[in-house]
Amino acid sequence: MNATGGWDRLEPKLAATRNRVSALESDPSRRNSFVAYTVERDSAYADLDGERLLMMSGYSYLGLAGDERVVAAAKAAVDLYGTGNHGVRALAGTIPLHEELEAEVASFARREQALVFGSGYAANVGTIGGIVGPGDTVLIDKYDHASIVDGCRLSGATVTRFRHNDVEHLERRLKAADPRGVRLVVVDSVYSMDGDIAPLPELRAVCDAHNALLMVDEAHALGVIGEAGGGIEEHFGHRHRVDIKLGTLSKAIPSMGGWIAGSADLIGHLKYAARPFLFSAALAPAQAAAALESLRILRREPERVTHIQTQAQRLRTALNQAGIRTMASETAVIPVIAGSDDAAYDYATACRKAGVIGLPVVTPAVPNDLARLRIAVTARHTPADIDFAAEAFLTAARQTGLI
Ligand SMILES: Cc1ncc(COP(=O)(O)O)c(C=O)c1O
Repeated sequence: MNATGGWDRLEPKLAATRNRVSALESDPSRRNSFVAYTVERDSAYADLDGERLLMMSGYSYLGLAGDERVVAAAKAAVDLYGTGNHGVRALAGTIPLHEELEAEVASFARREQALVFGSGYAANVGTIGGIVGPGDTVLIDKYDHASIVDGCRLSGATVTRFRHNDVEHLERRLKAADPRGVRLVVVDSVYSMDGDIAPLPELRAVCDAHNALLMVDEAHALGVIGEAGGGIEEHFGHRHRVDIKLGTLSKAIPSMGGWIAGSADLIGHLKYAARPFLFSAALAPAQAAAALESLRILRREPERVTHIQTQAQRLRTALNQAGIRTMASETAVIPVIAGSDDAAYDYATACRKAGVIGLPVVTPAVPNDLARLRIAVTARHTPADIDFAAEAFLTAARQTGLI
């Protein structure tokens, strides 16, 4: 390595990463990160190194990845508009498809207007930074997604974290917060590693009592909770409203991009104040068209949502009855708790041998001794797939001493 020009200062960081990664990657049975899977277009199976395995850790909740209608919409957009928009939305980058997609998102989210970003990450960073800054306070759940954390850091606002789903703790934090400036509370609707749901009624009440805005990230809620997949407000019977709703187009919706929905005033402000929207290229035509078509399919086919909910419950019940812990999960995401990081890796390997892919999530992404496989049920999983998965998870659990 060149020892001049500052490389010598950087070298310890590079070495630390090399050491950490080689320890993980030298043992093929433990190699779970950056593994290339080929997921079949019309099933929940994937090819991994020539082996056909049932994918139980995907994110395409609605099972629309590879759906021929979505693919056709993306192809038609490429034919019409080409592959990129060659600019930011404020200048040459806007095409009619963006406006159609934003109208569809706004209507889906039951808000006046919406804005789409290049990713969910950019939507969080841009929205938080466009709403709070120095002199304001933003309060976030300890388990909030990294893009929320990064948006808070970049905003320059005072950032306060409260214990996961602990509304009393949030209230104490709000009481102690600077009374001046904007107060913004940001939570995930569904937590991506735990599959539990934010307590919206209690959060709304505390935010109202302390004059705070409430923003939710619906990344794992869209298409998953609520009778028709409408997200957290629908899950709680539309009795409580959030102030700002945000989500991605990269999970249940098989595309890329992020969105924010709210009042015309709020969206008008964010168009100019959200820096990742203003200073980053517009969503590519194929991505916008795929997202638009998927949202339309979700409206027409709510049975996909029902399927996810009933099959996830079946799997959870089978696991719990056998003594496997799944924390407070009540959605498509089911954490199968293994304990130590080593236990999670061993369990993942045993699951693979039993025919299913369950990807481990270890520290520091999750607390000590709560390493797990992050399982997710999708509309692609047939009831027979769920039976097979339950059997495989239990067989592997017995082999590794988990139960
Ligand atoms: C809760 C949550 N918010 C935001 C994001 C970022 O979304 P994207 O991948 O579209 O940038 C993710 C992605 O994992 C997420 O889980």
